[in-house]
Amino acid sequence: MTRRSWAEPWKIKMVEPITMTTRAHREQALQAAGYNSFLLQSDDVYIDLLTDSGTSAMSDHMWAGLMEGDEAYAGSRSFRHLCEAVEEVYGYPETIPTHQGRGAEHIMSQVLISPGDSVPGNMYFTTTRFHQEYAGGRFVDVIVDEAHQPSSTHPFKGNVDLAKLQALIDEVGADKIPYVSAETNVNMAGGQPMSMANLRDLYALCSRHGILVMLDATRALENAWFIKQREPGYENKSVREIVLEICSYSDGATVSSKKDNLVNIGGFMAVRDPEIARKARALLVAFEGLQTYGGMAGRDMEALSRGIREMVASDDHVRARIGQVEYLGNLLIGGGVPIVLPIGGHGVFVDAGAVLSHIPQDEFPAQALTAAVYLDSGVRGMERGIVSAGRDATTGENHRPKLELMRLAIPRRVYTQSHMDVVAESIIEVYRQREQIRGLRFTYEPPALRFFQARFEPV
Ligand code: F0G
Repeated sequence: MTRRSWAEPWKIKMVEPITMTTRAHREQALQAAGYNSFLLQSDDVYIDLLTDSGTSAMSDHMWAGLMEGDEAYAGSRSFRHLCEAVEEVYGYPETIPTHQGRGAEHIMSQVLISPGDSVPGNMYFTTTRFHQEYAGGRFVDVIVDEAHQPSSTHPFKGNVDLAKLQALIDEVGADKIPYVSAETNVNMAGGQPMSMANLRDLYALCSRHGILVMLDATRALENAWFIKQREPGYENKSVREIVLEICSYSDGATVSSKKDNLVNIGGFMAVRDPEIARKARALLVAFEGLQTYGGMAGRDMEALSRGIREMVASDDHVRARIGQVEYLGNLLIGGGVPIVLPIGGHGVFVDAGAVLSHIPQDEFPAQALTAAVYLDSGVRGMERGIVSAGRDATTGENHRPKLELMRLAIPRRVYTQSHMDVVAESIIEVYRQREQIRGLRFTYEPPALRFFQARFEPV
């Protein structure tokens, strides 16, 4: 058989120059940033894998939408287009627009959670858990155990463990659980999917107990691709059909549109129940904006409505997107670097706990590894370990996540295969010299969501 390569279903129309930095320059920049990659200036970064959030390249069709945005304060045509796209692709009839994902999480948490409630979820996301706790709720992790084991190759590490959920229902009672917060393609687990069977069973269990299922559908498209690859019966379905079916097993969702939806800013909450939507809109006008823009400009909503349709227009987009992540992941595996398996949807997660086993978790191995990689090559990743996990809201003790990871999140349609080669070469080199990396300690620790603004120094 002759080899038949495939490549991205797009070509490049415009380029943005990036800075090539020197090691001396990076040493200075890293110190100025307090060893926190969030505090680096982007001008000091060569290849930016901090996040896949809001960093995607829009298509020419989406850019054209910016020119056609309707900036009316009330009743914007672009909002109507957004509602139509959300209903068509996700299937929810009520759309509440927000400035980004956490705006939607805030509104949903305030509408549905009462103080003393428990909110089970398949692992936490930082801002999601913050808003659940801010509304007086208690987050309870009900993800399958395999999700906490980097080397487990379970095909659906994002699944909810229904026995854990049932135990929680038995313990606190269904009336103390307003909804299950189910994230598609779980970010903190390494971009790991839920199976359709699990979504279906979860919805059935919750429906029996009168508990809602609210998705974090931020990366539902990437989850759909994995279902197509791994779940019998879905190999011949399009990701468009699969996304719609995923959402059919839920009562609503919050979405950060800065990921799957391919825009640089925006988000929404969407539900079936008009009563929940009414309560959400009442809060929306106080916190986000009027119900027909919610913190987005008309042009943002126009681009977003096009991005939502574009992501599912054919399977070729998501295949190339996840194909690039797999390409990088396989290079690292080839270099012997321990990463979270299976390779995730939005990035490669290096097992910093394993790489830097000589650094105790209290000295932030993943933070230290991220700093070392930046120093080596100007590649910027992100800590997803004990710093991100923060402290318990009641005891003040550090959460101690089993996963101590450095995330290399890949923006959509932005970097080439050669960029991925450069990233892999740097990380493999740092891995070879891992014994020389030292741990870090705080010089400043913010009270909440500390990873964004914390500062460190070497121990
Ligand atoms: N839910 C998930 C699963 C996310 O990954 C994010 C953001 C949010 C909600 C919040 O959305 O940023 O639009 O307010 N994740 C980014 C990241 C920040 O880098 O993983 P937002």
